[in-house]
Amino acid sequence: MIIQPVSCLRGELTLPGDKSISHRYAILGAMATGTTRISQFSQSEDCQSTLRCLKKLGLGIRQSKNEVEIQSAGWQRFQKPRELLDAGNSGTTVRLLSALLSASPFTSTIQGDDSLNRRPMERIIRPLTQMGARIEAVQDEYPPLRITGSQLRGIHYRLPMASAQVKSCVLLAGLMAQGETTVVEDVPSRDHTERALPFFDVVLTEAEQQLKVKGPASLKAVQMEIPGDFSAAVFFIVAALLVPDAEIYLRRVGVNPSRTGLLTLLEDSGARVERTNPREFNAEPVCDLKICFSHELLRRFPAEISGKWLPNMIDEIPALAVLATRLERGLRVRGGEELRKKESDRIKSVVVNLRNLGVQVEEYPDGFFVPPNQQIQGGRVQTFGDHRIAMAFSVAGLIATQPVELDHPSCVSVSFPEFFERLQSLS
Ligand code: S3P
Repeated sequence: MIIQPVSCLRGELTLPGDKSISHRYAILGAMATGTTRISQFSQSEDCQSTLRCLKKLGLGIRQSKNEVEIQSAGWQRFQKPRELLDAGNSGTTVRLLSALLSASPFTSTIQGDDSLNRRPMERIIRPLTQMGARIEAVQDEYPPLRITGSQLRGIHYRLPMASAQVKSCVLLAGLMAQGETTVVEDVPSRDHTERALPFFDVVLTEAEQQLKVKGPASLKAVQMEIPGDFSAAVFFIVAALLVPDAEIYLRRVGVNPSRTGLLTLLEDSGARVERTNPREFNAEPVCDLKICFSHELLRRFPAEISGKWLPNMIDEIPALAVLATRLERGLRVRGGEELRKKESDRIKSVVVNLRNLGVQVEEYPDGFFVPPNQQIQGGRVQTFGDHRIAMAFSVAGLIATQPVELDHPSCVSVSFPEFFERLQSLS
């Protein structure tokens, strides 16, 4: 795949359904009794992995285009899978489904691809074990996870890191456990699970960074609609802010504040972004966005991002690194050690690829520094099989002086199979 520099970006896009939300509605639909209908479901490989695993647990799943229908007799009736559960590249699949397997009266094994099998799972093994599950992992940490479920008991759990996957795993397990489960979250992470639960008839109480659920809970099947994925939108947003003479419209974008840390920073720095037609899908805020090339942003964007800002833009850092090359004060990202534990080591992937494209960058254990006002040259990008690296550096190609070549473009299917067609349609 070769991306050529462009002088203009124009047009309008509707984004694919949000990946994080799609996983959650499918899993909650599987736990509920009755038929859950979900529209605008993500077509990503990751969400297909979740559906495939749910089928192996005995759920009736019908899918046509973006509509998914899940028929379930409730979480008490999951069946022992006859084969391994394969989560593919998807951390959310393995971490959330482990909760369901931990409460089911059989032994099952869930694993991922080479990248997922190198990602840390101790973060979910610890609370699930405290609740009563037995989990064997490679070096106590890595998939495949062999999970022997049992009757779980509620726990009080303080999250050791900001992670929506861990938070959701403990809350889901709490719904199937005896008694009350409390999750304490010092640094807020995306809250899609919390927003979804009341629609499935679950009472969740929230006070002073504590989330509480009571089990065993009965979930009711519902009809849900999924907003467009902000983490997919961000590549087009950054492209439009950087390509001179750009003006694009993005329709039905999910703008849950626990996801849009970067959008807020861009707006506060004078980016020409307009939010119109605000509305809600199942308690998830949605709007349309108009984005234009913004010179002022390049002068005013903060020179450093760290700490509490990061969880609300954790998946947007590769795109931000591309934007950073043009900033008049450069950009330092600190406190991002979690970035090393994503689909690739995203600090390394960003640093290696900025250098591959002739950009100066300094690497830190927990982030990087991009000096100000740099021109991206052409070159070859190593995606490391990471969808967000492939998409971010495609945007780099649009503003480079020479073409940019991606080594493994098909990895975008993990979250956004139609990414290149959409990008092409704007240029
Ligand atoms: C996700 C949470 C985040 C994010 C990932 C999706 C989710 O991971 O990076 O892409 O759907 O809950 P962590 O929970 O590890 O922060």
